[in-house]
This record gives sequence, C-alpha cells and structure tokens, in this order.
Amino acid sequence: MRAARYHEYGSVETLVVEQAPDPRPGPGEIRIRVAAAGVNPVDWKVRSGAVREVLPVELPAIPGRDAVGVVDGTGEGVRGVGIGDRVFGLGGVTGATAELAVLSAWAQAPATWTDEEAAAAGLASVTALSGLRALGPLRGRTLLIEGAAGGVGSAAVEFAVARGAVVIGTASERNHEFLASLGAVPTTYGAGLTERVAALAPDGVDLALDTAASGSLAGLVAIVGDPARVSTVADHANAQRLGVHTANAENDSALLAEAAELGRLGRYTPRVERAYPLERIAHAHAYAERGHTRGKIVVRV
Ligand SMILES: NC(=O)c1ccc[n+]([C@@H]2O[C@H](COP(=O)([O-])OP(=O)(O)OC[C@H]3O[C@@H](n4cnc5c(N)ncnc54)[C@H](OP(=O)(O)O)[C@@H]3O)[C@@H](O)[C@H]2O)c1
Repeated sequence: MRAARYHEYGSVETLVVEQAPDPRPGPGEIRIRVAAAGVNPVDWKVRSGAVREVLPVELPAIPGRDAVGVVDGTGEGVRGVGIGDRVFGLGGVTGATAELAVLSAWAQAPATWTDEEAAAAGLASVTALSGLRALGPLRGRTLLIEGAAGGVGSAAVEFAVARGAVVIGTASERNHEFLASLGAVPTTYGAGLTERVAALAPDGVDLALDTAASGSLAGLVAIVGDPARVSTVADHANAQRLGVHTANAENDSALLAEAAELGRLGRYTPRVERAYPLERIAHAHAYAERGHTRGKIVVRV
C-alpha cells in the first residue's frame, strides 16, 4: 500500500510517501480502506521525537491516529460491523495516513458528513467528550472553553451547546465569527480574560475546559472558583499541581457513536480548515504545527 512515513524522528522534511507493508487487523480490530485521515498535534509531537520517552514508536512509522474509510477486513471477535461499511475511528498512536489502516475503535460515519469531516471527528470527538464528562452535567451551566477554535475545542463547543450549556469560547479575533457559528460566545484569550469573561457572564462561570495548554490553567481555576469544576485535556502537569481534572482520548467506540449520533442530528459537524492530498503530508504537518488551526487539518488518501 501507499503510505506517508518517516524513517527517523525529525522535522517535516522526514516525511515521505512510499510503499509500506499492508497492516492486518488483530482480534477486536478492523481494517479500513482509508478515504481520509486526520492530522492531530500528537502526530507531529511524536514525529519530532519530542515525546519519544513517553510515546516511543517503531520506525519507520506511518503518522496518524484517526481516519475514515470503508471496512475491508475484520479481526477475530469483531461483531456489528461488516465489509463495505463506512466507518470513522481510532487506531494506534501511528498508522492512519495510508491506503489501509487498522482501527480498534470505530462508529458508522453519518451519511451527512463528507469523508473529510468524518476524518476530522475521531480523536477530537473522544477527547472533547472525555474532557466534558469530567465536568458533570452541562444543562443550564455556563462553560468557558479555552482554545475553542481548535480541533478539540470546536468539537467541545458543539457537544456542550447540544447538551444545553451556555458556552464562552476563547480564540484569536480571526476565529470569533467561527466560534459564533458553532454556538459559542467568543472572546480573546490572554491578559484580561477574567475581566472579559466577567462582562460576558455577570452571574459567573460554572465550569471550564482547557484544550489550549497555554499556561492559563491557574487563571481558569480563579475564574471558576474551584479546581473541581475545571478539566484539561492538554496541561496535565499544571492540572496535577492545581487539583484540576485531566482527561485523555480513549479508543472508545461508545464515545465515537455518541459523536456520530450528534452528527446525524445535525448538532455536530467536524470543521475542516484545510484538506491536503497524501503527497502533501509534509505541508499538512507544517500547517498544523503552527498551532493556529481552525477546526481540523485532514489528509485525503
Ligand atoms: N489528552 C489527550 O488525549 C489529547 C488528545 C487530543 C489532543 N490533545 C491536546 O490538546 C491540545 C489541543 O488539541 P487540538 O487538536 O485541538 O489542537 P489544535 O487544533 O492544533 O489547536 C489549535 C487551536 O489552538 C488555539 N490557540 C492557540 N494558542 C492559544 C492560546 N494561547 N489560548 C487559547 N487558544 C489558543 C488556536 O486558536 P487561534 O488560531 O485563534 O489562536 C487554534 O484554533 C493539544 O495540546 C493536543 O496535544 C490531548
């Protein structure tokens, strides 16, 4: 099969598109013929070698954590999905940006989503749902989302709005219209956030979700008034110090099905800023590494 790969840790220059061995699904796994794969921060963090102590990968490695495609093989014990089904989901830390990928968590992709949208849904949706779950019931609550314009943040806005929260989301000004289109009240992150939020929510903010890891976690705790009502998916070091909930992506098909159901209801549409062809994988990573993606970057395979 054709695949994006890197043979050594390093910059985007290490990325090539070449032939690689076809993967095989193990027990409980499926193999899909990939239509499109997501690009997530973990892809370039792993590729750069920056997280090799905690997330080592076997080289050469195929980047990519999530994808959409059509099932072309199932491993032992797999039930409820058949050859030809169009599914989106999660594989390992690597492996998705290729013609064939193995997934260990998946859900049927809503017919209303394009392949690019479905490719953007996997990691972002399970991460956003886990981060929100840590905060408890959302109906009638005012929720502040730090980093609301990114892949995880934009998914979290739509999920929280669907569950009846009033959402204030932070982003740079260029993304304020985007946040409003998702159903959030936009404001700018950084110095003065406390005052801006107080003006937007005179009765106070009940909950906060951090997806930005920008060093603002202590500030979010001060705005909400209680670390137990704050969660982060991105700043685990400060969370531990402050007593804030942490949440991580899980390869959980039930969470993917929950996201897909909201997709079918028209309450969640993964937002794709840019889609690159497989051959331009290095450009896709370079764009994502800037840290200012609006929604998601995906790669068409
Ligand atoms: N724990 C897990 O399992 C897990 C899973 C997935 C992701 N993550 C982590 O969660 C974080 C978010 O992931 P992602 O996929 O959403 O990333 P992303 O799409 O690359 O996020 C980009 C967004 O971050 C915003 N941003 C940049 N600087 C900011 C700041 N100082 N304050 C607030 N927002 C800022 C940008 O908005 P502007 O362009 O408007 O500046 C942009 O929309 C990453 O650190 C990622 O590694 C963790």
